[in-house]
Amino acid sequence: MLNTQNTVLAMTAGLPTQFPSDGLAQVALSGRSNVGKSSLINTVLGRKNFARVSSAPGKTITINFFKIDKKIYLVDLPGYGYAKRNAEEQKKFSGLTDTYLRKSTPGLIIQLVDLKAGATADDRMMFDFMNQSGIPYVIAATKCDKLNKTDRAAHLKALAEDPLLNPPEAGKKIDIIPFSSLTGEGKTDILALLSSIAEK
Ligand code: GTP
Ligand code: MG
Repeated sequence: MLNTQNTVLAMTAGLPTQFPSDGLAQVALSGRSNVGKSSLINTVLGRKNFARVSSAPGKTITINFFKIDKKIYLVDLPGYGYAKRNAEEQKKFSGLTDTYLRKSTPGLIIQLVDLKAGATADDRMMFDFMNQSGIPYVIAATKCDKLNKTDRAAHLKALAEDPLLNPPEAGKKIDIIPFSSLTGEGKTDILALLSSIAEK
């Protein structure tokens, strides 16, 4: 198992030259702004405010590399789909993420989707990109505490039936992990995933 107590923010990268190149496995977190990426990191690491939870969404245009137990990087990508970014910020933002995904090629992407809101057009562009790239990925369906039992089941079903999450290329359904940083649901599943990538 990974000792999550031993986690450091190894790098805050605003430029591709700052991406770690030590060959350690990397798991990237992708999702729109405000979907709960930083909260997921804090929950999974059992820290209160390690990754900053944003009150001003879409501010960060850096990629944060959290090194866990000297074995694996958990990579916090900047959130996409933030409307209030100006054109220049938007370009800088997507350029950095694009370069990261092409050059560093993480061993796994955890793609966050707000379960109540469902997959957005931008989320589905990411699904398509990941299907094309062949990078393995799972979906973390976030903020699942916000839905009652009936709605939760309906929203999970709708997500599971998205054709992009049943890609013929993969030959199987993409896994969906219900997650809540409020209740801690899904935490052990995410930890198990990280461990499996780290031990590879
Ligand atoms: P950016 O860094 O701007 O891309 O956002 P982010 O994806 O890191 O989201 P963040 O973790 O900062 O959370 C955004 C807001 O959603 C905060 O107000 C959180 O408190 C709230 N939130 C995050 N996760 C959950 C959850 O599981 N349940 C509920 N109810 N609220 C959540
Ligand atoms: Mg964040």
